[in-house]
Amino acid sequence: MLVKPQDYINDALNNHYALGSFNSVNLEMTQAIIGAAGKKKSAVIVQTSEGAIEYAGLAAISGMIKILAEESLIPVIMHLDHGKSLAIVRKCIEAGYGSVMIDASKESLADNVAITREAVEVAHARGVWVEAELGAIMGMEGAMGLRGRRTPNDFLTKPQQVVDFVEQTGVDALAVSVGTIHGAFTGQEYIRFELVEKIEKITPDLPLVVHGASGITNEHLRRVASSNVCKINIDTEMRIAFTEAVKAYFSVNHDKVDIRDILGPAREAMQQVVEIKLDVFGSSGLADV
Ligand code: G3H
Ligand code: ZN
Repeated sequence: MLVKPQDYINDALNNHYALGSFNSVNLEMTQAIIGAAGKKKSAVIVQTSEGAIEYAGLAAISGMIKILAEESLIPVIMHLDHGKSLAIVRKCIEAGYGSVMIDASKESLADNVAITREAVEVAHARGVWVEAELGAIMGMEGAMGLRGRRTPNDFLTKPQQVVDFVEQTGVDALAVSVGTIHGAFTGQEYIRFELVEKIEKITPDLPLVVHGASGITNEHLRRVASSNVCKINIDTEMRIAFTEAVKAYFSVNHDKVDIRDILGPAREAMQQVVEIKLDVFGSSGLADV
């Protein structure tokens, strides 16, 4: 069923686990995410970036997510990931998203505050939940094999800015830059737990969001999921699972052309990634179904 995020995020905050938020660009990714959540009896967030919306079309991708969500007994939240403008936030709200991210983190702090506040006004008027970003999460979803990258201190979230940002914007949750980077970084990524702890001490009731979680060890993911981080974003690891499965298929099936035979195993491989993450984030078994 399609649900709004508020109750589920609050439950995650109060009970020290995190919801998995997985990117989708098509049918197979959406089925993998909702299928995994059904198997694990876990609420789940299906998120689409602006790029995914451009690729699939807003009506098509949001319509598909809604239909698959409604066919499932599992609570499914539909979320806009890294919305860069008020225009896309408005369009997604119209299309039935219960949750949006406004990402003005590349702007000055004053502009980030102003743009986020406006998005919050628009979204809250429709009962839609808003995530914003303070500090900047670097890299790019799908970027591969970059070794030893570290987030420069200037891009990390500055704990002393958090209270004012939240008060001035009225945002519901905050994506924080605490060491993770978008993309897969060959085991070199890590979370700066001392920074997470500082932020949660300052704003104990604020749900936090970790982006760029592909490539983070399960041990670190488990630990961060038990903090005030209530939403953890995964994209690249699903893309890798998909691509590896397609490559494996063609390495033995040189002359096959049935799209279902090609994409079916890829969908299964992505579902396995999501199932593991839901266990690690601690949300498995908690959905009331
Ligand atoms: O917004 C999406 C994510 O932060 C995904 O990051 O590609 O490193 O998993 P990732
Ligand atoms: Zn992200």
